[in-house]
Amino acid sequence: MYCPNYSAKTQIGKSAVQDNAARRIAELEAQLVHSAKLVTVGQLAACVAHEIKNPLTSILGYAYQVRKAVSDDSPMAKDLDIIITQAQRISRMTHSLLDLSRQEIGPISPCDIHRLLDQALDLLKFQMKTVEVRQEYDKQVPFILGSASQLEQVFLNLLLNALQAMPHGGTLTIRTALVRSSEEGDQVQISISDTGQGIPPEHMEQIFQPFFTTRGESGTGLGLYVSQRIIHNHGGSITVESTAGVGSTFTVSLPLDDPSAS
Ligand SMILES: Nc1ncnc2c1ncn2[C@@H]1O[C@H](COP(=O)(O)OP(=O)(O)O)[C@@H](O)[C@H]1O
Ligand SMILES: [Mg+2]
Repeated sequence: MYCPNYSAKTQIGKSAVQDNAARRIAELEAQLVHSAKLVTVGQLAACVAHEIKNPLTSILGYAYQVRKAVSDDSPMAKDLDIIITQAQRISRMTHSLLDLSRQEIGPISPCDIHRLLDQALDLLKFQMKTVEVRQEYDKQVPFILGSASQLEQVFLNLLLNALQAMPHGGTLTIRTALVRSSEEGDQVQISISDTGQGIPPEHMEQIFQPFFTTRGESGTGLGLYVSQRIIHNHGGSITVESTAGVGSTFTVSLPLDDPSAS
């Protein structure tokens, strides 16, 4: 590459400058490849979500019909409720993927964060038998303007990850706080902590990448990627602190102002 500004430099200086430039170009190229991959992944996700939506609608329709025909005290009723709840979850997921691929935040309304957390916890109650749950909600946390279904999806993803990190039991702590800051603006923070296996330092950079998973066949590697996109679309951020063998804390910070205004 010809770089006239640096032509008078000594041979050593010149090669150092060239090395820096080459490194910077390689970085920029890597960033471009990365964003191109993300666009492709987004399109692919939208396609898959679209294909899933129709068959899922008929699965749900038939499941509702069968459930109506079964009395509440029948042993089948519980199983059918699970089928319906889980199919509704997939339905929400496909809708959020479609929303995301359109770079939209979805319908915005005032959201009760504590209610969304409780709903997400309720969906996971079958998977929490060996886990002690602590809810430390700050009553001062106000409603937040956002997409309720997308925010619930984020909480579900984070709670599920926390539970999967504690297969032999442990403590799940869900904490909320209103953080007032004149510099960064007022925020609501929601932190989800587990006492699970933790995340090794070499994985920290990768966990938010699409398709990064350490759960083999049972993982998709999309939970944190999708969650981060949703929270960014709300003008917020997700941070993580983790110590291998001790546990992890994921903290979602959401601004109090209108996300559609940013
Ligand atoms: N609470 C957690 N404790 C330990 N590891 C976690 C936790 N949350 C996420 N991870 C790591 O991040 C990876 C990506 O998570 P995610 O995007 O939700 O995909 P998936 O759950 O399908 O693997 C997980 O496979 C795991 O290695
Ligand atoms: Mg996950």
